[in-house]
Amino acid sequence: MHTAVQERVIRPARNIVGSLRLPGDKSISHRYAMLGGFAEGVSRFTNFSTGADCASTLACLRALGAKVNRTGADSVEITGVAGRVGRGDWTLDCGNSGSTMRMISGLLAPQQGRFTLIGDASLSQRPMERIRKPLEAMGARLTLTDGHAPLIIDGGSLKAIDYTTPVPSAQVKSCVLLAGLQTVGMTTVREAVRTRDHSELALRAFGATLTRAADSVSISGPQALRAIDAEVPGDLSSAAFFLCAAMLFPGSNLVVDALGLNPTRASLLDVLTALGAHIAVLNLEEKHAELVGTVQISAPDEGLGSTEISGLLAAQLIDELPVLAAIGPYTSGGIRIRGARELRVKESDRIALVAKNLRAMGAEVEEFEDGLDVPGGQTLHGATIDAGGDHRIAMAFSVAALRAEGDTLIQGAESAAISFPEFFDLLDRVAER
Ligand code: S3P
Repeated sequence: MHTAVQERVIRPARNIVGSLRLPGDKSISHRYAMLGGFAEGVSRFTNFSTGADCASTLACLRALGAKVNRTGADSVEITGVAGRVGRGDWTLDCGNSGSTMRMISGLLAPQQGRFTLIGDASLSQRPMERIRKPLEAMGARLTLTDGHAPLIIDGGSLKAIDYTTPVPSAQVKSCVLLAGLQTVGMTTVREAVRTRDHSELALRAFGATLTRAADSVSISGPQALRAIDAEVPGDLSSAAFFLCAAMLFPGSNLVVDALGLNPTRASLLDVLTALGAHIAVLNLEEKHAELVGTVQISAPDEGLGSTEISGLLAAQLIDELPVLAAIGPYTSGGIRIRGARELRVKESDRIALVAKNLRAMGAEVEEFEDGLDVPGGQTLHGATIDAGGDHRIAMAFSVAALRAEGDTLIQGAESAAISFPEFFDLLDRVAER
């Protein structure tokens, strides 16, 4: 998909007030789509992610023979291939989506055929060696160029492995589990940091059996999957922009309904609480083992404190770090981030781009190989922001702009649609000016 470059002016706001319900979680939507595409029967998903990334996953599944019927802007019906894609030579375009490329590789490696996975310029720079290693250990053949896409998979039947992920990555874990699902014997993935467990929960929802220990998860294959009907919980990583925006204004009051609150994703709420937020979680329920609830947030009257994010927290909060760094100048004691080297290999080098854009707004910031120091007590001014084609950078700086002096111009605002096409409209709805 090719979208024209767009600019967006963000005017300062006086407050954030209102109530929102957000489109479906991107991580869960990818997984439901892939498992639905692979299962036997017809799956129906509502509140499915409206982002371009999940559309890339759906397009790949359609190309592989699943029947994909968009029944509405946020609903989709998928008839799966019942465990087998036709033999042949396939080219699949994963667009900007690392999740698509890395996870679908695990689904395809045990299938007979040659699969060439391609992506846009950003995705073609991102590390894929991390999935080549375990899949080759299972017996698949993968070809990369300098560790990058295009990624060619010569698939076939594999052998089970016991694999320890060298960097915390839910995508790599999922890739290995999806291959293990189709492989005779017990495949185990061990991880030092417990990454998001949506794949484990989704596999169970589709009827698979997995066993979990303190630092590992195992799947015994082969197993068949059965179609499901599911409503995707609202995306907490999208909500992060609004929750952080609400942090900037004493007197703010924002309610987000039907939000995914899976504990492996929800540490943002702890960090915001540590910064002084008043947060209430209501109406908690489980949907296909995913926790869903309503979050109400308001900013502290006395201003935001300070926080340090590293280790386990940095890994679990990886997608929320850009927006947390972007509100860092408005805290009293600053935000310090370490152990987040992975930020450098996301849709952009997020450490470099956050530092560059904070400086453009007049902030002082120190950049480290694995993080940032953003001192507090700073006043920012409106500036021209370079989103670098990265959705989370475009949205993070739209939030920083709300409390800056003067207007901010977001260059590359269209990239928000990768995960969250409704972002700017919803921001206008809750921002009082
Ligand atoms: C994701 C895992 C994370 C995250 C990405 C989505 C997932 O990536 O940054 O946005 O859905 O599994 P890594 O697996 O590279 O850590």
